[in-house]
Amino acid sequence: MTQGRLCVLGIETSCDETAVALVDGNGRILAERVASQTVEHAPYGGVVPEIAARAHVQHLDSLIAEVVGEAGVPLSDIDAVAATAGPGLIGGLLVGLSTAKAIAVALAKPLIAVNHLEGHALSARLVAEAPFPFLLLLISGGHCQLQLVTGVGRYRRLGTTIDDAAGEAFDKTAILLGLGYPGGPAIERAARDGDPTAHALPRPMRGRDGADFSFSGLKTAVRHLRERVPDSRVEDVAAGFQAAVIDVLVDRTRNALAMARAEAPALGHLVVAGGVAANQAIGGALADLAAGEGLDLVVPPPRLCTDNGVMIAWAGIERLRLGLTDGLDAPARARWPLDPDATPAPFAGIKA
Ligand code: KG4
Ligand code: ZN
Repeated sequence: MTQGRLCVLGIETSCDETAVALVDGNGRILAERVASQTVEHAPYGGVVPEIAARAHVQHLDSLIAEVVGEAGVPLSDIDAVAATAGPGLIGGLLVGLSTAKAIAVALAKPLIAVNHLEGHALSARLVAEAPFPFLLLLISGGHCQLQLVTGVGRYRRLGTTIDDAAGEAFDKTAILLGLGYPGGPAIERAARDGDPTAHALPRPMRGRDGADFSFSGLKTAVRHLRERVPDSRVEDVAAGFQAAVIDVLVDRTRNALAMARAEAPALGHLVVAGGVAANQAIGGALADLAAGEGLDLVVPPPRLCTDNGVMIAWAGIERLRLGLTDGLDAPARARWPLDPDATPAPFAGIKA
């Protein structure tokens, strides 16, 4: 196919979503499927790696067949196959990557081993103008990072969480408040009817140098508050928690921006990705920050913020254009930092 009409199959199996998509070089989504395993994991209160891997095995082949069928593009017509190779749960990664390798061998197509975090980072460029360099705030259930992105495969980590990820904090706090899983949407809903000033909650790391995050103290503060004031309104606590998260995210992003600008003065865009980016209140606060700083804000739509196959296919297209393909010996990697020079965080979650 010609450059503009490149067509890449994307496969995502790093956590609890089996996702497949066919995307073309113009950013057109020809077909996509996301099979969530929330129901399978719900009885255990979290993702069980073995159950996840098994579910990926069960669903992946038929999802690929459905996507190819709906798009009307035979596999023999695709230009490359891209799969998430890390970071994530190793069993699931092996399912997706092995399947991609089998397709690549059988059809003599290039393989692209995609970093899941790069998938999140580049998804912004599928939906909007987001020229390099840009500042990336990645906020999901497993990651909370600020990265200076200067090109495909070119990242400098400016900040990360030293304990929980932002989404993890939402999920754990929601459990404390009896709001169920996933916690983010439930807290956002409850917070709409709450008074964020009803209770004083901490803003961990706010005002400190650098751009690192910490959320576990905030979650603990919510637990203590509920113990101390058992009749506190769930809505008020949810609103207070969300307001604290927002203050921290804005403060850390502002610091990261100053760090990024010192290295890349031409930086003109702030990209926010990951499941937590679906939160309207967080989006609003980051929009205000971006406006004040003279930046264009890009937040992909929620279905592209949560884990999906489209972002993997699109990262595949960006890599294929640059000739960045991988050999059949490309490993699945449970840990795979975007910035190889970044020192590991004290606690590094495995979800993405
Ligand atoms: O990126 P994602 O789908 O999965 C990974 O973690 O890889 O993100 C899921 C996370 C969950 O922690 C969920 O609670 C959070 O995103 N989330 C939200 C919202 N929607 C999803 N957090 C805050 N507000 C939301 N509206
Ligand atoms: Zn993710």
